[in-house]
Formats: sequence, C-alpha cells, structure tokens
Amino acid sequence: MRITLNNDAPTAVSADLIAIGLGTKKPPRGSAAAALLSASGGAAFLKAEGFDGKPGQAVKVPGGGEVKAKGVLFVGLGDATGIDAVRLVSHTALKLAGSRKSVAVYVGAAEPEELRAAAQEAVLGAYRYLDYKTRGVRTGPGRTVLVIEGKKAGHLKAAVEAGLIVGECAAIARDLVNAPPNDLNPITLAERAQAEAKALDLPVKVLGKRQLEKLGMNLFLAVNRGSAIEPRFIHVTYAPKNAEKKVAFVGKGLTFDAGGLCLKPAKSMVDMKCDMAGSAVTLAVVLAAARLQLPVEVHAIIGSTENMTGGAAYRPGDVFTSLDGKTVEVINTDAEGRMVLADCLAWTRDQIQPDILIDHATLTGAAMVALGPHRTALYTADDELASQYLAASEAADERYWRMPLDDDLRPMLDSFVADLKHVGGPHGGSITAALFLREFVGDCTWIHCDIAGPSFNDGPHRRLPKGGTGHGVATAVRFLESL
Ligand code: BES
Ligand code: ZN
Ligand code: ZN
Repeated sequence: MRITLNNDAPTAVSADLIAIGLGTKKPPRGSAAAALLSASGGAAFLKAEGFDGKPGQAVKVPGGGEVKAKGVLFVGLGDATGIDAVRLVSHTALKLAGSRKSVAVYVGAAEPEELRAAAQEAVLGAYRYLDYKTRGVRTGPGRTVLVIEGKKAGHLKAAVEAGLIVGECAAIARDLVNAPPNDLNPITLAERAQAEAKALDLPVKVLGKRQLEKLGMNLFLAVNRGSAIEPRFIHVTYAPKNAEKKVAFVGKGLTFDAGGLCLKPAKSMVDMKCDMAGSAVTLAVVLAAARLQLPVEVHAIIGSTENMTGGAAYRPGDVFTSLDGKTVEVINTDAEGRMVLADCLAWTRDQIQPDILIDHATLTGAAMVALGPHRTALYTADDELASQYLAASEAADERYWRMPLDDDLRPMLDSFVADLKHVGGPHGGSITAALFLREFVGDCTWIHCDIAGPSFNDGPHRRLPKGGTGHGVATAVRFLESL
C-alpha cells in the first residue's frame, strides 16, 4: 500500500472515500467533521441509519458536489479520543473500503505517533487472507491518504513510513500463521524466510536434520521423529554498523502440532497450524528492524518442525540429551515447544551471546487459562526490562501481563531418572514451562513471551481479525526502538 500525507481541506481531498470520526456529541462548528457533515448533507443519512456515534458504527454517504471525494465514511468513536480515535477511523476506513482504489483518512492536527498509528492501522485494516480463495477476490485500496492540518514535515513522513513497515511486517506474520500446514511446513517456512531476508540483503543460514544431528540438538530432533518432513533451523541476521546492542529473538516454529503420541483431541488440534506463530513474529521483527534501519543488531532464530505420530515418534519416558548436555525425561509429547526452544535458546546463548534474548512461543494452553485469550504472558527475572517491555506493549496497543518465575515451583521439574523432566504438575503450567526454558538460557538477560492466546483469534476481537493476528510484532519493534 502507498500512504501519503495531504493537507487540503477535507472537503477538497480527492479520493474514492474519505473517512472521519464522529463522537456521540455533535461536532463543534468549524471542525472538519462539521464541514464534511454539512457539505455532504450527511446528517439525514446518519439519522436514517440510526447512527449516534457509538463505536462500531459506520455510515457511508455519497460525495460529489461540495465534497470532492466520491464518498464520506462517518465512523463512530464513542469515547475514543486522540490516538485511539485515529486508530479506529483509519482501521475502519480501510476495512470497509471494499474495491475502492483510494481512501482518505482524516487525522487532523497530527502528531508523529498518531500518523504512525494511522498508517499501521490502514495496512492492517485492509488485511485479508485470500491466498486460497478462488472466487470473489477483490483487490483492496492501493492508496491511503492521511489528511492532516499543517505542514507535511519530514518527521511526519518518517512516522508514516514506520507505521507502514510495522503494519506490513505484522501482515507477513499473519499470512504465515494463516497458511495451511500442508503448504507451510518447516522446509517452505525456511524458503520463505530466505526469500524475505534476501530481498533486504540480510544473511540467512538454514540447517537441516543432518546438521542438527551433528550439533547435538537432540531435544529439537526428538520432536521431529514422528514427522515425515525434515526439521529446519533458521537464522536471519540484521547487523548494522552503528549497532550498540545485540538482541536475539528465538521463535517456536511448529508448523503443525498434533500433540505427538499424546495426541490432541480433534477440537484442540483444528487450529494447530498456528503453532508457528512465534517463528512468524521472530521473522517479522528482524525484517521490520532492517527496513526501519534500527541501530540494533537483531538475530532471528527459528526452530521449525511438525509434532506428529509417525512410527519413530518420541514417547513419554524417553530421555534425550540437550545441546548443552542436560538429560531430559519426556513426560507428555504434546509439550514439544519447550523441547525445540531449549536447544535453540542454548544455541543462541552460546553462539550469539546477545545482550538480550527474547523468545516468542505458542507454548501453553495454561497461559490462556491464566490470562484469557488476548494477552501475552511475559516472563523475565529483570524488573527494569519487564517495565520497558510492558511500556513498549502499551505504546503498540498490544496486551501483555507479567507473570512470576516462581522458584518454589522448580522442584516440579525434578526427574527420577534424568537431570530434569520437561513438564511439571497440573497447576501453573505456563510458569513451569517458563522455568523449564530458563534452564537453557544460562546468564543471558531473557524475556519469554507465551503468545498461545493472542497470536490466533477464533473470531474478530477489537481491531484484530479472525485467524493470525501478528500480535507481538509491534511491541517488539517498539522495544527495539527504546534501546
Ligand atoms: N501448542 C500447544 C499450546 C497451545 C494451546 C497453543 C492452544 C495455542 C493454543 C503446546 O504445544 C501444548 O500442547 N502444550 C500443552 C502442554 C502440556 C501437555 C503440558 C498444553 O498447554 O496443554
Ligand atoms: Zn503441543
Ligand atoms: Zn505446540
């Protein structure tokens, strides 16, 4: 999508549609909303539609005549003001644009933050997953015009560009999560990562089964045993010359999680193509960092496999030795993510030695039991880092909640036969999963994001669509910017 700034009077902007927000009160005289209302004769339409400015309401009114745009979209704001109102109007405009080619969004006295939000929401409001639709596919708007009061200054254009990039990278993450698991497997995921990285001139390394065997990533390989498709370890690097810090992202890339021999019931399995959402966020973040030319070295490390039930599948009771030499007793083969991540975290700790190590994983149903389906469970031992990441999530309008790394639960991972078992007791499942991962990060400063809930929606929620959401990308980018 192309996004431009325009400072014409809203009635004089030429576009197929111009969108503006309306609260529950009558817009003040002389305001842009009042001008568009009277020039379009919109009041009668709004009345006929029962529009009273509540959020979720939107009415299209024909333009032409005194309004240069071909149509006006009035978007109900409810109590939303400032940046929240901008997000809502921009998102709704692009979502309802249909096959119109150009959409204008009235932003008003624009701050860079608001323009960034407007641009990001324009891209994500227009998002649809249509790769497998053979009928009724319409291309959405290719052009968005953000209408502002005042000069089109350079720093405003940069803010628009940043919003566009974050939106497009979150859309890549959504596409990957929505892709069906018969087409998106570890091999094709690696190919996609290679293609995206090459387009930005970023170095990529991909390791296959043989190389993982040589390295000794036996926990990762254990999960792959039941699958007919080879695993892939993917490493994309963005290393600008002016970098002062090194951040490594690690992502769980289970392109399908059947549960292995501890098979999931059908109802729990149906959406398990989403189990690579951590890898999608991880890839999207390194791409965004590169496109934004952030002054931070960013590594994206992805462990990708399926978790299936083939004849060689790993079993409860099996013991495997991790990359860093710990023996792990398998308890439930459906707790496969932590097996894959353990080796990837240990590899990253030793080979990259990052200043900060951040993993994203659809790790546990327990995270959803604790926090509901729309929040990330965030774990870190570092209070300051937790505050910084939570602040980034607020700025990105994504929901996170810090969870405790309770040391007194650690004995739940003690094993009778091995150094540790990979599943704890019946309670605190998200916490014990995090404690298991902690065993493999050593002294690294570490954040663990359990995104099992918010990465995939059963139905639309707030401004997020059904299916893959791209949740986590905007927060991670904000965090990198804050370093
Ligand atoms: N991929 C699942 C977690 C999950 C559940 C993600 C629902 C998204 C939505 C994970 O591999 C898993 O199955 N975890 C088990 C762990 C248990 C066996 C200890 C779980 O949460 O039930
Ligand atoms: Zn599982
Ligand atoms: Zn899983």
